[in-house]
Amino acid sequence: MPDITFILADGSERGLEAPEGVSVMAAATGAGVPGIVAECGGSAMCATCHVYVDEAWADKLPAPLANELEMLECTAAERGPTSRLSCQIKLTAALQGLVVRVPERQQ
Ligand code: FES
Repeated sequence: MPDITFILADGSERGLEAPEGVSVMAAATGAGVPGIVAECGGSAMCATCHVYVDEAWADKLPAPLANELEMLECTAAERGPTSRLSCQIKLTAALQGLVVRVPERQQ
């Protein structure tokens, strides 16, 4: 049961547990985390699930595939060095404690 912490746009934090195998996006939308819109439902087609992965975690994630990299060109908020699509981050035991920051806007 990985723990994830979302740092929201207003600076507040929201922590939750989620089963391994689900995406960070699905965990967020299932728990009503504000700021994760996920219009396309996880198909890497909308970029409204954009998050900034905490720098301490960025290297622990598998590298983004080409379709994720392409959609990261379309984020509403400025893309950063650790920007990812949360629908493409699958939770594993190795990601227990993951911290991501939610952008100020997704559209
Ligand atoms: Fe649409 Fe992630 S939910 S790109």
